Amino acid sequence: MDAKNEIKHLRSEIARHDRLYYLQASPEISDFEYDALFAKLKRLEAEHPELVTPDSPTQKVGGAPVDGFAQVEHAVPMLSLDNSYSIEDVREFDARVRKSLPAQESPSYVAELKIDGVSVSLTYRGGVLWRAATRGDGAVGDDITENVKTIKSVPLRLKGQFDPGEEIEVRGEVYIPRSDFEKMNEEREAAGEQLLANPRNATAGSLKLLDPKMAAKRPLSVFIYWLRAAENRMPDSHSGCLDMIREMGLPVEPHAEALRDVDALVAHLEKWESRRSELDYETDGMVIKVNSMAHQKALGGTSRHPRFAIAFKYPPEQKETVVVSIEVQVGRTGKLTPVANLEPVRLSGTIVKRATLHNRDEVERLDIREGDRALVRKAGEIIPQIVAVVKEKRDGSEKPFAFPEQCPVCGSETSRQEGEVDVRCVNPFCEAQLRERLAHFCSRQAMDIENAGPSLINQLVDKGLVHDFGDLYALTREKLESLDRMAEKSAANVIEAIDRSRKAPLDRLIFGLGIPMVGTRTAKQLADEFGSLDAIASADAERLTQVTDVGPRVAASVKEYFQRDAAKNVVEKLRAAGVNMTQEWRADGPRPLDGLSFVITGALSRPRDEIKRDIENAGGKVVSSVSKNTSFLVCGEDAGSKLEKANKLGVPVIDEAALARMLSQS
Ligand code: IVH
Repeated sequence: MDAKNEIKHLRSEIARHDRLYYLQASPEISDFEYDALFAKLKRLEAEHPELVTPDSPTQKVGGAPVDGFAQVEHAVPMLSLDNSYSIEDVREFDARVRKSLPAQESPSYVAELKIDGVSVSLTYRGGVLWRAATRGDGAVGDDITENVKTIKSVPLRLKGQFDPGEEIEVRGEVYIPRSDFEKMNEEREAAGEQLLANPRNATAGSLKLLDPKMAAKRPLSVFIYWLRAAENRMPDSHSGCLDMIREMGLPVEPHAEALRDVDALVAHLEKWESRRSELDYETDGMVIKVNSMAHQKALGGTSRHPRFAIAFKYPPEQKETVVVSIEVQVGRTGKLTPVANLEPVRLSGTIVKRATLHNRDEVERLDIREGDRALVRKAGEIIPQIVAVVKEKRDGSEKPFAFPEQCPVCGSETSRQEGEVDVRCVNPFCEAQLRERLAHFCSRQAMDIENAGPSLINQLVDKGLVHDFGDLYALTREKLESLDRMAEKSAANVIEAIDRSRKAPLDRLIFGLGIPMVGTRTAKQLADEFGSLDAIASADAERLTQVTDVGPRVAASVKEYFQRDAAKNVVEKLRAAGVNMTQEWRADGPRPLDGLSFVITGALSRPRDEIKRDIENAGGKVVSSVSKNTSFLVCGEDAGSKLEKANKLGVPVIDEAALARMLSQS
């Protein structure tokens, strides 16, 4: 790839990972890997300055603010920190700091654990919490005051005496303690819901809940590390700021320490490398700040980072353990993924029992064998990985692993496409694939067939009741009631959800089909561009690539999918079952809710962000508070002040059923 194309590729990858991280709270790669992508882009741009464009992610301060909250401008931009990954980097930082200060001044430092959460700004007026905001893009963030007010460790009033209009702003990190996070995931698992990847994503998701009552149920906490106050109040050192923050009744991470020089700092960083795993909150490093405020001022900063502080990132923790066995799993798209079962080890606070080996090439590269000792690392706290095999410790009893030639679940042949690393089972009826595909089809982002969790899907497949998506629509209450743990009421609920899914918007159906490389966004674009499933199925590759996110590979994948007999049969079965396959409006044509604005309130049958997405798909806007310009208030049960306000202003109030009718009209 030439530099221009590589830069283009890196930018689109970074933008995709930003969306996954900030908007969908489901990252695919670790921070470490993300930083590496970013660093590579920065390096290429430095080598080819003519290729730098204003929209490059390197030119921005941070992620995008989310719709639905009021936007607020930060009084002082919320900057991020430059990263360092080694002790040498830290010594270089110290050298840079010294060079910028007069020769006789020697800087001392404060080191704070870098909490892996979500940054917030809290503004107090006259000592009372007035506004809380996210960082957003650094200049403008979301107003999340109501959600932040539900955090127990955030005082609504500061301790001390304040003039009535006096403004004090503090910034810090909101997080969910590890133990609470684990409890949340246990509850989700029991309820058959998707697990949260890590505490930070759970925190980000909680702060973005549009309903503060829901946010109040999340175990959020905060640590404050930054202060802005009137000049006469400002302490002359950062440690003085931390004292003042504490005295005002705000929580400060208890292990922050002032260190007299870089040697003391380095010793502190080394001491905490292993200790940090004992804390009940996730940390990904240490933040190092020059202590004297006069020094901080003299050092200044760039538009992105201050020069007086740096983040020191610890390498992901890694440990040695035994590879007990290696198995191969078959995923939704037939992809064969080798997985190592490990003797359990504790890594960054959780117990790791399995690690992905990614693909056949990786197994060969590692030359990993059953019985080997291997180093495991938790990449971004999501899926643990094997870093290397400790070959010196082999005693000859290890069993080499032969990657299967046949699908380990159905025995069909496997294939590996040219230029691809993945080996796939070619049988679309393979049971492993079928289970995964059904789960995907029923998932919230697809056809939203609630209660169809893994246990139900397994039984449906085991008992031969369902061989493809189409069979779901032939299920009856009686058939469901014959299954284990299926009471009358839940059977009725499942049938009702299946029935409702017949009217799901076209883009959800496209996503639900599980066409390789077609995610929610591409599905939406395909629906908008073509308006019907048949039009997509019969489009040629060239026509498909007219869709924004569709390149030649995605086009080939869509084409291949619809050419298969199995796919044709399923589409016909779905059609016969009355599943919606068209969309009446097109992206470039009029949509039913164009120009209308909605406020959503009360307890509804589906998550708010889904209802919001449906409204936006149909051209409408969702705003957070009721005004005389609001077109409709969508109201569920137990609505409060918003309903009162709508009634007072004469804003029409509708229920979910009425909204569904509006959505399906053309
Ligand atoms: S100071 C100008 N201190 O790390 C100072 N940040 O890129 C800016 N963070 O966005 C931040 N713990 O979300 C600071 N003790 C700490 C921190 C901390 C976590 C986060 C913060 C910031 C990011 C740095």
